[in-house]
Formats: sequence, C-alpha cells, structure tokens
Amino acid sequence: MNVNSAPVVERRSGFPVESIRAMFPALHRDPSFIFFDNAAGAQVPQIVLDAVNEHLVERNVQRGGRYRHSRQVDATIARARESVGIFLNARDPSEIAFGMNATSFIRIVSLAIGQTLQKRNEIIVTDMDHEANVATWLALQREGAKFLWWKMRDDGNLHPDDLKPLLSSRTRLVACTVASNALGSIVDVAAAAKLAHEAGAEIFLDCVHYGPHAVMDVQAFDCDYLVCSGYKIFSPHMGFLWGRRKLLENLPTFREEFIPDEPPGKIEAGTFIYENVAGMDAAVSYLENLGKTLGASEKERPATSKRAHLVRAMTAIRSYEETLSLELLRILRECGATIYGVREDHRVRERVPTLCFNLKKISPAKVTETMADAGIGIRDGHMYTPRLMKRFGLRQDSGVVRISAVHYNTMEEMHRFADVLLDLSKHE
Ligand SMILES: Cc1ncc(COP(=O)(O)O)c(C=O)c1O
Repeated sequence: MNVNSAPVVERRSGFPVESIRAMFPALHRDPSFIFFDNAAGAQVPQIVLDAVNEHLVERNVQRGGRYRHSRQVDATIARARESVGIFLNARDPSEIAFGMNATSFIRIVSLAIGQTLQKRNEIIVTDMDHEANVATWLALQREGAKFLWWKMRDDGNLHPDDLKPLLSSRTRLVACTVASNALGSIVDVAAAAKLAHEAGAEIFLDCVHYGPHAVMDVQAFDCDYLVCSGYKIFSPHMGFLWGRRKLLENLPTFREEFIPDEPPGKIEAGTFIYENVAGMDAAVSYLENLGKTLGASEKERPATSKRAHLVRAMTAIRSYEETLSLELLRILRECGATIYGVREDHRVRERVPTLCFNLKKISPAKVTETMADAGIGIRDGHMYTPRLMKRFGLRQDSGVVRISAVHYNTMEEMHRFADVLLDLSKHE
C-alpha cells in the first residue's frame, strides 16, 4: 500500500502501520486474528519469505565448493554478516557469528569463559533475566565460579547503582539483559558496562527481547558480547552473537582441528541454517527499506547510509511503540489488573510494549483461553523467568499473562483486546 493512501489514523500518528502490515502475509491469512505474542516470535515480511525460498531453490548446497551454487552460499553468508554487523553497529563483520539460537550461543561463550576464570571467578547475574542468560552461567559452578545477584528493584527495573557494590577485582563478567522478555523494562546497559569495565570485568548482553524494538548499538552499549535471536526480529529461527574481535580471538571455544582459531569460524561449530541466515539478511533489508520510506524531519539531515536508515527505522518504531505501551497501561489499569514491572506513564521510555499482568481471581490460563476464543494470541506462564515469579509471590505453573506488541500492531487491535479483557474482568 502506498503511504499516502493509508488510513487517517496512520497518517495522524505519522507511523505507516497499515503499509507495514501489508508487507506481512501472515497478518492477512486470518485478518480477524491478532498476534499479541510477539515476544515468543514475530511474523516475517514477504521479503524474508522470498529470500528463504530463493535460497532453497537456487543454492541449497554446502558452502566452500568451487561451483556456482556453493560460491553463492559463501556470498550470502558474507553479505548477511555485513548487514547484521551494520544492524548492530559492529566494527567489523568478523565479529558476527551465526548459529541456532541465543541460548546455545550463551552456552558456547559460558563454556569458554569457564575455562579462563582463575582469580577472577565471580559472575554477576540478574533476577530479571530470561533463564537462558542465568542458568548457562550458573552451570559454571563446577568450574569454580561464584555468583552474585544484581536484583531488580520493586520499581520493575535493574539499577546500575545496585550493580556497583557487587563489582570488584574478582568480577569476571556481568550477564544482563537489555530488555526484559517478561516485563518489558529497558536496562541502562551503557551505565552497567562502564561500571563493569572500571572493575576490569566484561559484560555479556542478552539483546533478544530488545532487538525488534529499538536501535541496537554495540559501540554505544560499550558491551563485550551481545546475543540476539532472528525469530524475534522478523526473521526465521536462527541466532547471532557479536563479540569484540580481540575477546573472540582469545576465547577457547570447541572447534575441529581444521577450523582456524579465528572468529567467526571458531564460534560457529558445524553447519548452521543458511536459508535462515539469508532470511535474517532480508529482515535487515526490510528495516532498512522502512527507514528509507520514513521521511526525514526538517531538522534532520537526510539518511544516506544503511546504518542511518536502520537507525531511523528503529527510532520511529520505538516512538510508535511508546504509544502502544501507554495505551496498554491505560487498558490494564481500567480493567483493574495487577501490572508487574514499570507501570507509570512518565517512565514509558524505560519500557517496550511487553506487559505482564494478572486479573483478580481469574487464572492466567483462563484469561489466555478467553483471548484465544476471541481470536487473540497472548501467553500465560512463567515467561522463563522463574525467579521473577517467585519475587512476585506467584506460582511458577500459573505465573502471569503476557501481552507483547511490536510495530505492526495497531491501536484498533489494542481496543479489541481491551473489550475482551474488560468483559472478562466484569463477569467473573
Ligand atoms: C530475553 C530472551 N533471552 C533469551 C531467549 C532465548 O532465546 P533462544 O530461543 O533464541 O535460545 C529468549 C527467548 O524467548 C528471550 O526472550
């Protein structure tokens, strides 16, 4: 759809949500269904489907051969490394490794770090993180690691001031999330990185939940490692890791002897899914194209580089999503829900539109079943954050209800969700 022919609502908000939706075939299969479980995996635009399909039809062969198809696979991987590198603002494409998912990358790095602990054997983990960025580090107990907990405050976020007293000359690494997959809180990771580095430690960031919502920038975060998952960022299932080149060079990873001890190959054990890497490259192109279509305001200089287009797209996404967050907070308050995490409107910049809540006297499963019957996909359970559930005094098997929106969701969808929730909260 042409942006100029978009409905009045979209022109008023300045964000081309209807044009965007037109690019996502899954949103039109059953137009009455609402995807509000995006934190568990987002839909993909046509350009991504085309890239995966083309890869499988044109070059579904192993890389490293001398024939045309195989050379094209090499070129696809090289192109994807470059585009994902730009997406993260990496200094060099060789800092990007591709693999199966975020969890396996965290484990690859934790196994390597476990071999280098020596006197610096303390690892700081948080009680707000997805278990993938906690259990993988706790598993290093056998290697002599000691653990300190950076705890979320009751206001729903991690505060760098609370990290400070945990750091010392014994700290090897801080592992923390950039945004909580359960509560949506955005952490000031640049401040955390500064503190970690002052203590001579490294910082490992889980960017899986933050990735689809705002600008990722490893240089601004000043982190040492960062992991992401393609299926959260409008791409198929795959994962990627970024690490500082020097640190990756020194990591003692598993590799067969004929693989050079150099990044990225030394972090990429075995064959990964090339067609999904082609899909991830296309997802970056989708965001870049979105940045191109979003006109520069009069104050801004026109974007010229791929990175500048990506920054423009992700900045616009973040700003649009703030309106979704505010609306969700309003709806949940109106329904008398208990909201876990950052609840105040004035702190909206501290969150993405992922919210956990409970209704009084109604089980989370009942809420999500009612929503499913109404054609709305949301999720209940512990959200892979068992420590948070415990802190909230909730049972792990029932947990919370989570709604998670992305930039293709609309205000109209929010209002359909509100109608069902209000009805449920009144009648139970
Ligand atoms: C914040 C966060 N970290 C890590 C993971 C695990 O990612 P993967 O499924 O790619 O291993 C998830 C998955 O939902 C997540 O939301």
